[in-house]
Amino acid sequence: MSPLAFILALFGGLAVSAASESPTADCKLSFDGRVPLSSTPETFSSAQSLFNPKYVIGQNLTWAKIIEFPELPPPRFDIPVLAKPLGLTLTDESTFLSGSEGVETALRRTELLVNNKDDTVSGHKTWHFSFRTDPSRPLNYSHEYLLAFHEAADFQADFWSVKAGALLEGPAVPSQFLRVEGYKWDMPVKKFFEAPLVDGVWHNMGINLDFNNNMISVLYSTDDAPLEVVVPPTFNNISGKAPTTLGEMHFGLQKRPTGANLENFLFEGYQEKGINEAFFFGGIFQDDSSTGCVTL
Ligand SMILES: *[C@@H]1O[C@H](CO)[C@@H](O)[C@H](O)[C@H]1NC(C)=O
Ligand SMILES: *[C@@H]1O[C@H](CO)[C@@H](O)[C@H](O)[C@H]1NC(C)=O
Ligand SMILES: *[C@@H]1O[C@H](CO)[C@@H](O)[C@H](O)[C@H]1NC(C)=O
Repeated sequence: MSPLAFILALFGGLAVSAASESPTADCKLSFDGRVPLSSTPETFSSAQSLFNPKYVIGQNLTWAKIIEFPELPPPRFDIPVLAKPLGLTLTDESTFLSGSEGVETALRRTELLVNNKDDTVSGHKTWHFSFRTDPSRPLNYSHEYLLAFHEAADFQADFWSVKAGALLEGPAVPSQFLRVEGYKWDMPVKKFFEAPLVDGVWHNMGINLDFNNNMISVLYSTDDAPLEVVVPPTFNNISGKAPTTLGEMHFGLQKRPTGANLENFLFEGYQEKGINEAFFFGGIFQDDSSTGCVTL
């Protein structure tokens, strides 16, 4: 074991077997959403998409119209597999027609969806993803944004989430921080980690999930630095109880309204008109961590 892996194991109680200065392909993967160089925006609307080709986007939009490929150095975990990052946008058109809820008039959503893959929401897994702001089309940090979340199969809970901006139910005061939160219905909701959402750098997250024991731990770094454990394994309800269990992962932008609350934010509250916001994602994949393997 390298000294780095040893320190991480002591600190986090995690068995880390892939510690090195450059990310290795040592861990078995349970999902790989890293985007090949040959992908086009149209790929994302097709059956070849690594994500759901239809959801979760504005009622009259297609992924082919949304996806961009920014001229940026790729994030850490795209480099070894020659993948490229992508850009997502939010406009007034990013209004989703939900099959069960109708038109979600108070939300703006552009979210890559990994669904119908129970293997990614059970066992012991580690999600990886990197994200970065677009300073030329900034988010409005007076709003709450979801950047990544695990939603239960019946859509009645989020088991964990990465958010940015103001609190949905707090004052609409700009807050350019990212945060990792726990189970949506905990009172109060747990905040596991927080860091400034600095412009012009890649933020790399690792979310280690032991679904059998309801434990979450968080790894984080910026740009090309190896991931470090910032939250050791901690209890969080990530397995739920049927039918509020399993479910799907979302990666992207969900902009919530101001002046709303947890019960009504799909349809009530304030969204400014004429928005043009963007955000970059890359390096989305999942380790099978059943043997303790976590890519750093
Ligand atoms: C989508 O287009 C239809 C038909 O023009 C329109 O009625 C509907 O309001 C549009 N939806 C959104 C979210 O803009
Ligand atoms: C940000 O959002 C708040 C609340 O919706 C709004 O009052 C403000 O005008 C927005 N700021 C910008 C720069 O768009
Ligand atoms: C998780 O939450 C569900 C309610 O949604 C509850 O029935 C279940 O017991 C909780 N699991 C744990 C381990 O607390």
